[in-house]
Amino acid sequence: MAASAIRFGPGVTREVGMDFSNMGVKYVCIVTDATVRQLPVLKTVEDALSREGISFDVFDKVRIEPKDSSIKEAIAFARPRGFDAFLAVGGGSVIDTAKLMNLYTEYPEADLLDFVNAPLGKGRPVDKKLKPLVAVPTTAGTGSETTGTAIFDLLDKKAKTGVAHRNLKPTLGLCDPLNTRTMPAAVKASSGLDVLCHALESWTAIPYNERTPRPANPILRPAYQGANPISDVFSLHALKQTVNYLPRTIRDPDDSEAQSEMLLASTLAGIGFGNAGVHLCHGMSYPISGQNPGYKHAGYEVTGPIIPHGVSVAVSAPAVFRFTAPSNPERHLAAAEAFGVDTSNVKRESAGEVLADALSRFLDDLGDQPKNLRGLGFGAEHIDMLVEGTIPQERVLMLAPGLAKELERERDQLRSLFEYALDR
Ligand SMILES: NC(=O)c1ccc[n+]([C@@H]2O[C@H](COP(=O)([O-])OP(=O)(O)OC[C@H]3O[C@@H](n4cnc5c(N)ncnc54)[C@H](O)[C@@H]3O)[C@@H](O)[C@H]2O)c1
Ligand SMILES: [Fe+2]
Repeated sequence: MAASAIRFGPGVTREVGMDFSNMGVKYVCIVTDATVRQLPVLKTVEDALSREGISFDVFDKVRIEPKDSSIKEAIAFARPRGFDAFLAVGGGSVIDTAKLMNLYTEYPEADLLDFVNAPLGKGRPVDKKLKPLVAVPTTAGTGSETTGTAIFDLLDKKAKTGVAHRNLKPTLGLCDPLNTRTMPAAVKASSGLDVLCHALESWTAIPYNERTPRPANPILRPAYQGANPISDVFSLHALKQTVNYLPRTIRDPDDSEAQSEMLLASTLAGIGFGNAGVHLCHGMSYPISGQNPGYKHAGYEVTGPIIPHGVSVAVSAPAVFRFTAPSNPERHLAAAEAFGVDTSNVKRESAGEVLADALSRFLDDLGDQPKNLRGLGFGAEHIDMLVEGTIPQERVLMLAPGLAKELERERDQLRSLFEYALDR
């Protein structure tokens, strides 16, 4: 079990200067995006650093849903400046970009693909300790403040991928509910759907004692272990909290209790999936967002098309859990109970249908969500490409229960999942 140190509570952001001072840090790279730069949190962290006499520079050109080009720009900013720590202030896009700035400044000669997950990249292991990274999440979604994962789009491969290694994990996550209050409803919804899928996928992932091969040396053990008794505690609790509080945060912008609980749920789900892993919703989401036919999600302040990460994972969720239920009907029924379903008279064979129905109702009731892949602009003609874009996502697919190892059979299964998600 591994996770970043986490501090949670209203106002903890103000402590960040002292934290860096305690680490002996003198020169910090603040990483953020153009929208978050304008929010009060930026002033809070700048004041906190100044109070401790710590110098800093701000990089505010993080791209929302990062691409290889935006990551390269961020690395080029950091490499020559000799920072001795990084401070990420923003959502997953910012935190992930900061992780990669930290990694690639430690390896000044490395090419971007060197550390990217195989087979899309070279999968080189990270064998150096990186600089301290403090993450201040401003969305309640990715849990990136707890994980060693950084995700971006590889444009020429038309797929999202990234780097996953424990050394990328932030040193400290400062989870401050004062920082998520300003999220527009659309960002609350899509980042919250990411939490929902992190919780559900890690809860239903292949169990840790069935994942093969067993690594010859513990250092080779993947971060994603499969569902296990420790991650289960985090994942199931985060699922229940998300079902209870996500609709409230979207409906009422002043519901500070719900906002605080959602931030906590996102961090707890991060710890759950950061150790257990995610599977099909995430594996399928990477080509969905990478092959976007031109959809722009309302409420996102970006130029150009965007399928936000949370939307891209949730759109396949009813199809996915219908498919995975036979591997472990009890767990799928327990998940349905989290949605308030009385499962006392439900047969094990119906677990998938029951959970898929509960999920569909939950998604439909949230409002403003595309109902299916067609609602994102996809048609039957896109399915083959979506399937081909999912197959290289081995890092997460290896944790998908019921997915065939044999390639043709796996293709057929993925095709049926995308077909179901097209018109749910
Ligand atoms: N590292 C991981 O483990 C992990 C896990 C899941 C997702 N991700 C990645 O994270 C990214 C998505 O991150 P996200 O969902 O947190 O959102 P985001 O960082 O992409 O931000 C979404 C939008 O909300 C704005 N925003 C953020 N905080 C705000 C606030 N408090 N007030 C007003 N506006 C605010 C941003 O400027 C942006 O326009 C994707 O690239 C996804 O692939 C990473
Ligand atoms: Fe995610």
